[in-house]
Amino acid sequence: MDVREYMNEHRERMLEELLELLRIPSVSADAAFSDDTFRCAEVVADHLRKAGADNVEVVATKGYPVVFGEKQVDPSKPTVLVYGHYDVQPADPIELWDSPAFEPVIKSTELHPEGAIFARGACDDKGQMFMHVKAFEAMVATGQVPCNIKFMIEGEEEVGSVHLEDFLRAHKDRLAADVVLVSDTGIIANDVPSITTGLRGLSYVEVEVTGPNRDLHSGLYGGAAPNPINILCEMIASLKDEHQQIVVEGFYDDVEELSETERAAMAEAPFSEEAYKKSIDISAVEGERGYSAPERMSIRPTLDVNGIWGGYQGEGAKTVIASKAYAKISMRLVPHQDPDDITAKFEAHFNRIAPESVSLKVTAMHGGQPAVTPTDSPAYQAASAAMALTYGKVPVPVRSGGSIPIVASFEQILGLKTVLMGFGLDSDAIHSPNEHYGLFNYFKGIETIPHFHAEFAQRHG
Ligand code: BES
Ligand code: MN
Ligand code: MN
Repeated sequence: MDVREYMNEHRERMLEELLELLRIPSVSADAAFSDDTFRCAEVVADHLRKAGADNVEVVATKGYPVVFGEKQVDPSKPTVLVYGHYDVQPADPIELWDSPAFEPVIKSTELHPEGAIFARGACDDKGQMFMHVKAFEAMVATGQVPCNIKFMIEGEEEVGSVHLEDFLRAHKDRLAADVVLVSDTGIIANDVPSITTGLRGLSYVEVEVTGPNRDLHSGLYGGAAPNPINILCEMIASLKDEHQQIVVEGFYDDVEELSETERAAMAEAPFSEEAYKKSIDISAVEGERGYSAPERMSIRPTLDVNGIWGGYQGEGAKTVIASKAYAKISMRLVPHQDPDDITAKFEAHFNRIAPESVSLKVTAMHGGQPAVTPTDSPAYQAASAAMALTYGKVPVPVRSGGSIPIVASFEQILGLKTVLMGFGLDSDAIHSPNEHYGLFNYFKGIETIPHFHAEFAQRHG
């Protein structure tokens, strides 16, 4: 029996098991879900064991554990380390979901006429991670494991993988491999396969502006007392110039400029600005002068306010000058920019522009290095060949705007390159209400992954 026949025979169960996994609210950001998150690791470990992995272990860290498992078939064959995450983003705002986030349902959509699974984590990353477990099960069951395979499934990706570098350092030998394979990114469309060749880095800060020592009557004090909310808004507005370039001093110093040839190659990837605008209901795109929308979303750094609050937000009007104002700001980084350096530059700049009337606190939240992956490697070629086999089209290389901070650490700590062979769509609403993952995508992934292993085993010198 081949892997595809096995998959067709076990299709219903492979779906049911994913739905069961999606019922576990493994929200790493919220301590209220701590028991569920630990339980989720055990469930993933059980699946790996049942699928035929050896030495399966739920390895404790200072945070949520990492699930490890492996299958050694032949020491002369190469080893693929599969990485994924079992933690998910919070479901908030829950009132915007059409069905409960942790009660998966299948519905068809315009882009998923054959049905999509609606649940938090359906695409990011339980659905995609679980494709690897099911593909592995099929390979073991049909006696077709073409190389050595290791699994490393973590539970803190959505909170910045803070303990994972320690894990890599502590388990270097156990994790020894030839390449890392990750499905935690997307493709352009179900009929336009693509492989992600780059991820942006991240510097994420929270700022707190303090004016008067208490909330004040806005009539009695307004006009002379500094208003931290007004001031924070002015400070934030001043961070970009009229061409939407970020003015934080030194921000672009290390930015890698792409050659015209590279930019021309990027422009080959299909992108419709009209469809993009329509998909998120906007009438115009925004962004840095001189760059196309796909470039602004991948090879250029950004600065975005992710949240801003302070003062009175209840019903009706309350006349008040708040004592404090806050914002959370993310900066997506491109190759050669360093998150710590950018955070320091942001803090220095923000302090410089703060008026004397307020005091300022800048707190660094999580960060991550950008990463680019080669396209001339046997591993990339294996992924390309695998997708070409199952999609009938050679996948297009694309740089993504998202971040998976551990990818840079795989290279720095383990000396391993990563292949980002993801299967989600941008419209799958990851991190948003009504996240979903196409049944087509789930099963296409399960079908493609064994081809990757076979192609890699064949190519690896
Ligand atoms: N899987 C995503 C990243 C992603 C999605 C990359 C689609 C490319 C295409 C990942 O789980 C994620 O959400 N990462 C965070 C980073 C983080 C430090 C919380 C992000 O990009 O915001
Ligand atoms: Mn993810
Ligand atoms: Mn995510």
